[in-house]
Amino acid sequence: MDALAEAALRGADGEELLQHPAPAEYLAAYTRVEDIDMFRGVADKDVRKSIRVGAVPMPELAPDEVLVALMASSINYNTVWSAIFEPVPTFTFLKHYGREGYWESRHDQPYHVLGSDGSGVIVRVGVGVRRWRAGDRVVISPVHVDDQEPATHGDGMLGQAQKAWGFETNFGGLAHYAVVRATQLLPKPAHLSWEEAASTQLCASTAYRMLISERGARMKLGDVVLIWGAAGGLGVFAVQLVKQAGGVAVGVVGSEEKAELLRRLGCDVVINRSEIGLVDDRDPVATVAAGKRLGSIIRTEIGEDPHIVFDHVGRATFAISMFVARRGGTVITCGSSTGYQHQYDNRYLWMKLKRLIGSHAANLLEQWESNRLFDMGRIVPVLSEVHALAGVGEAARLMQTNGHMGKVGVLCLAPEPGMGVTDQVKRARLAEGRSAALDTKIHV
Ligand SMILES: NC(=O)c1ccc[n+]([C@@H]2O[C@H](COP(=O)([O-])OP(=O)(O)OC[C@H]3O[C@@H](n4cnc5c(N)ncnc54)[C@H](OP(=O)(O)O)[C@@H]3O)[C@@H](O)[C@H]2O)c1
Repeated sequence: MDALAEAALRGADGEELLQHPAPAEYLAAYTRVEDIDMFRGVADKDVRKSIRVGAVPMPELAPDEVLVALMASSINYNTVWSAIFEPVPTFTFLKHYGREGYWESRHDQPYHVLGSDGSGVIVRVGVGVRRWRAGDRVVISPVHVDDQEPATHGDGMLGQAQKAWGFETNFGGLAHYAVVRATQLLPKPAHLSWEEAASTQLCASTAYRMLISERGARMKLGDVVLIWGAAGGLGVFAVQLVKQAGGVAVGVVGSEEKAELLRRLGCDVVINRSEIGLVDDRDPVATVAAGKRLGSIIRTEIGEDPHIVFDHVGRATFAISMFVARRGGTVITCGSSTGYQHQYDNRYLWMKLKRLIGSHAANLLEQWESNRLFDMGRIVPVLSEVHALAGVGEAARLMQTNGHMGKVGVLCLAPEPGMGVTDQVKRARLAEGRSAALDTKIHV
């Protein structure tokens, strides 16, 4: 470990951190441009084959950026997309971005450092950074915006230049260091460990915007919310948000183990998707039959249809989501893991006056509000596994094969789990809430 990383890990103050030189290279998990055709014609696109872990050059720091010594990160589904080079190789994003100017050209490399979550210590600040300094402990928003673009000030997600850090940009979070914009920084909750804190940004804030924000479904007290994939990365936070906001959570899962997790999180109704019998969305009769089976289970349990359907599964569930939402209800989607060319019967949308909303990540204020809920202990991290940086391939494979629950953590500079807690009193006070989390499997 280099001297700067070692100082950041032991909690050195900003003054000392600034005295240690930044290393010329750092360890990172990345894909390589020469591999983008490696899965052509291959049925099992095993991400362990395309994710490498090795040294990459340290980039120059732009005036509005900070260098973070990363203690931990977590796996998101976008790392799976990057590592299978679908729907487009992420090198295409880097190439286009790289054409925009001098600082942007740093991102266009033959390697792509992946990862859109992170927690760590700021070790350098660009000359244009005002609110943050070396030594600050932070979590990182995955949303990379141009704060000189007018639309960004209405909603950060609506700026044309908005990008997902570590997916549409380089220098992501699955590494020992990351280069991030000052507009991506949030304070790390003091009672959380590094790996817990690194699991709280991308998925939780996406779920927050989808459910609670005025730009999302605007959930209100008493709403019945159907959550697909409710024990996954988005799902575990959606369930907690619905419960905290006074709603009725109906979670769909694929196994009894996942059902048990949802019960521990307080989910009101848990449905195993084998009870629904999901079908090919090109068969409208079978889709309506599956929608009726699901609707009937929910009516039996709750007595009414969902106000909100939380979808990210895509093709396998979307037509049913559009069917099962109540008259005047809302379907909100942020992804399509099972395929993004959906087919559904539009009559259920217009005749029943439903709303369909597309949602993507969260702006900085929504990120801040979501982070605050973790800080207050209202929502808690749910980590099923923690891997070492060298094991990012295995960790991403777990997500690719749907073998995980909640989030999968990655230790970057932190040598072991449980480090980084600076307020043990608060941690003890909030311990009861945290007991909802899993018994995390450690692979370090
Ligand atoms: N736009 C954004 O800002 C944003 C942010 C975060 C995530 N996403 C996207 O959202 C999706 C989910 O992300 P995630 O982090 O929650 O992933 P995840 O942790 O893998 O969870 C997804 C869940 O989907 C369920 N699922 C998988 N295949 C299914 C099928 N055929 N039918 C029904 N359910 C199925 C699984 O649950 P069961 O097997 O238990 O049913 C799994 O737990 C990804 O496509 C991701 O790229 C988008």
